Amino acid sequence: MAKPKKRYVCQACGSVSHRWQGQCADCAEWNTLVEDAPATVFSLKHDLSSGGRAVEFVDLDKPGEMPVRQKTGLAEFDRALGGGLVPGSAILMGGDPGIGKSTLLLQAAAKVAREGHGVVYVSGEEAAGQVRMRAARLGLSDAPVKLAAATGVRDILTSLGQMEAPKLLVIDSIQTMHSDTIEGAPGTVSQVRGCAFELIRYAKENGVALVLVGHVTKDGNIAGPRVLEHMVDVVMSFEGERSHQYRILRALKNRFGAVDEIGVFAMAGEGLEEVENPSMLFLSGREQPMAGSAVFPAMEGTRPVLVEIQALIVRLQSGATPRRAVVGWDNGRLAMLLAVLESRCGLSFSSAEVYLNVAGGYRLSDPAADLAVAAALVSALADKPLPDRSVWLGEVSLSGEVRPVAHGNTRLKESAKLGFERGFGPSDAKTGSAELKYAGLGQLSNLVDRVMSS
Ligand code: TYD
Ligand code: MG
Repeated sequence: MAKPKKRYVCQACGSVSHRWQGQCADCAEWNTLVEDAPATVFSLKHDLSSGGRAVEFVDLDKPGEMPVRQKTGLAEFDRALGGGLVPGSAILMGGDPGIGKSTLLLQAAAKVAREGHGVVYVSGEEAAGQVRMRAARLGLSDAPVKLAAATGVRDILTSLGQMEAPKLLVIDSIQTMHSDTIEGAPGTVSQVRGCAFELIRYAKENGVALVLVGHVTKDGNIAGPRVLEHMVDVVMSFEGERSHQYRILRALKNRFGAVDEIGVFAMAGEGLEEVENPSMLFLSGREQPMAGSAVFPAMEGTRPVLVEIQALIVRLQSGATPRRAVVGWDNGRLAMLLAVLESRCGLSFSSAEVYLNVAGGYRLSDPAADLAVAAALVSALADKPLPDRSVWLGEVSLSGEVRPVAHGNTRLKESAKLGFERGFGPSDAKTGSAELKYAGLGQLSNLVDRVMSS
């Protein structure tokens, strides 16, 4: 049998190399490479086609075994989950430190426990007293949640094995967990992977809904190996700007449901409040129209959310390289739009600094927002406000064409309901109603002509 090659795994980023080095070639961390157990290599002579145990095959439509979702009672959380917790599933909840993950999960845990279901909350970050203090502040002290401050996975699983399996198990956070069968400090790749594996196995065998809190690194990834995202059934991200009140719960992956519904919360003195109707949250509510501001009708699942996009253009006198700064939108897409505005519409941004901001800490990724961003940019450049009470939607192609978007009519109808009077977008949308006057733009240059001549 061939001697298996040695492999070394970086404990910080999980990359594999076949030679030991002092510094990881991928993430540039020092002293993070650790020899990994070699994968067993079978020779071809080894016959795997006999001697195994029989595996049971079932039909896809086998009746009577559909798991029943457990609602948490926190409607926005259930909505983002696609209808509630699935028994025997694992959920990874990522988010920046201090964004409110522990608060959200404690509130959900209390709700489920008050419904009479078993709930275990294990905190590896805070002492039990600290969690109790938070519960008191949130008015949840009376909820029958079983609370523990522990980090040893063996201890946790042994204790859980001696009691009736709970409906919901929260581990806050997976990076603080430690298994004595695995080498390395808590938070290293092998520890995170090993601990998650043990906990997920317990959850699957006992029909427990498991929530693992995961820390997020500076670049927005869940710290530890990417494999964690493959191991769990649902990956959720809790987003928002810490300085703003609003928080958005989003499913990035969901084996049991759609990933387009979001949950919206507001952080208040008594914890997270659910926001049932988020449509007007991300508007500044100004009376007078301002240059550089455009409203985009976003869709989050089945709900419309109107978002204000703000642009600021500063002309530079010197030949210094102008800055482009974006909050809440994609940098690359802004560069593309600026290029289209320059080459197709004859505008010049080359000696100007460009700042783009999506109001309220909201993050936009919908390409349908292209036209609204372009409108904000042109309006800022011309220093002329866009028409009052107007919404803008459309994807902009490299040729400068304004292209149709998904749910165009729904977006316009909802905008009309919320008091908007004018809509601008692609030419072929069949819209226009008594409440909302619609104008198709066709080419981006039509937008520029309209704003410049207003
Ligand atoms: P936390 O849930 O500890 O965040 P995470 O677990 O994601 O690190 O939330 C911490 C922040 O939330 C903290 O900065 C204070 C704020 N907060 C409130 O504003 N109101 C509250 O009722 C609570 C419990 C926290
Ligand atoms: Mg926390």
